[in-house]
Amino acid sequence: MSQTADVVVLGAGAAGLMAATTAGYTGKKVLLLDHTDKPGKKILMSGGGRCNFTNLNTTPAHFLSSNPNFCISALKRYTPQHFVELVERHGVDFVEKAPGQLFCAGKSKEILNLLLTEADWAGVDLRMKTSINQVATTAESVRLETSAGSIDAGTLIVATGGLSIPTLGATGFGYDLARQLGLNLLPTRAGLVPFTLHPELKERLAPLSGLSAEVEVTCGGHSFAEPLLITHRGLSGPSILQASSYWQPGASVTINWLPGLQVVEELSQLRLTAPKSSLNAWLNDHHAKRLAGLLTEMLQEEFASKKLQLPERLADFSNNQLELVGQFLQEWTFTPAGTEGYRTAEVTLGGVDTQAISSRDFSVKDLPQIRFIGEVLDVTGQLGGFNFQWAWASGVAAGQDL
Ligand code: FDA
Repeated sequence: MSQTADVVVLGAGAAGLMAATTAGYTGKKVLLLDHTDKPGKKILMSGGGRCNFTNLNTTPAHFLSSNPNFCISALKRYTPQHFVELVERHGVDFVEKAPGQLFCAGKSKEILNLLLTEADWAGVDLRMKTSINQVATTAESVRLETSAGSIDAGTLIVATGGLSIPTLGATGFGYDLARQLGLNLLPTRAGLVPFTLHPELKERLAPLSGLSAEVEVTCGGHSFAEPLLITHRGLSGPSILQASSYWQPGASVTINWLPGLQVVEELSQLRLTAPKSSLNAWLNDHHAKRLAGLLTEMLQEEFASKKLQLPERLADFSNNQLELVGQFLQEWTFTPAGTEGYRTAEVTLGGVDTQAISSRDFSVKDLPQIRFIGEVLDVTGQLGGFNFQWAWASGVAAGQDL
């Protein structure tokens, strides 16, 4: 005999928990299903274990989507302040680590506990280790064949997320279902992900592994002035993760190693006031010694490629040579070999095309009994708490008016 529910939410992650709770509070009978053994695994992993649960400065401009206006309505109706109020109501302490970026003062688990408590209060029936074999739609309802039997539901909310980090439960289920329903899918790729490097540069940077520097990284017309981290696999850190979402294979990436500095003006001045000092000594004032050394070494090669010799003393630099130094240090360009892919990516770009989805309640325009929310949609936030804000906002919008 089949079970029945008003609403089945598929995926007990950030968006699914929020949608299920919202629907539960309206009095609906809600089943929340997930194929893994524990809900909210990404929430636990997020923000380095401290969950960057929202960003107070959230605007639609912080999202990548082929339909940039789609996110506006939900973000306007459920704001970061709404989530902060929920966090405060549950007595969870938080800190603003960078402007607008709110993290738990303690552990991510507190955010997950809050969501599970709310789901419980809302009467949500959470069932883990349940997989879906088939979804069939009738004119007004949905029938699911699951590992726990058949379920008939008035509405199915798909919150199965993207492809990032399969070990945390990610699958392509939401995309497969969208395809089955005849929806358009935009190509998916890993976002907020470290870059891998071609062998020569990788070997060159390997001895500096673990070193971090304040830089500005530019890719695809977007610049991010945040730290960069050199790893034994390539480049990571917030500036690189941000840039990766705007990167296409084969494209180049530019690093300004001295953001906010007028390099040529500063060095010209220093040439007058401290003519005997060296470029390397000046670089040492701005970066760790090992990085300053590598930059000097690479500058020597750059000069040599132009049949020039990098002068020892600043006094011996011509104006043109100072220009060359400035350009090299502030527009250093490389082409990544690739990214680390879904294995370590925080998000998946692309996904279900929002053109066929209502921005009011997230229902499929020709199939109102099915809704898609969260990361499975072609809406992806930049780094900084925006992705959770999207999960909360889309979850709340889809959990209403059922
Ligand atoms: P989410 O991936 O959270 O949930 C999907 C759920 O569906 C999972 O529980 C999964 O098991 C389930 N599922 C999948 N396939 C299924 C199937 N076939 N059947 C049943 N269930 C299925 N964002 C942010 O704003 N601040 C941060 O600090 C971080 N930090 C961070 C760290 C790391 C390591 C990662 C990987 C990601 C982040 N993010 C983040 C991104 C953020 O975690 C992400 O955008 C949201 O969790 C997306 O929420 P969803 O609910 O859409 O998917």
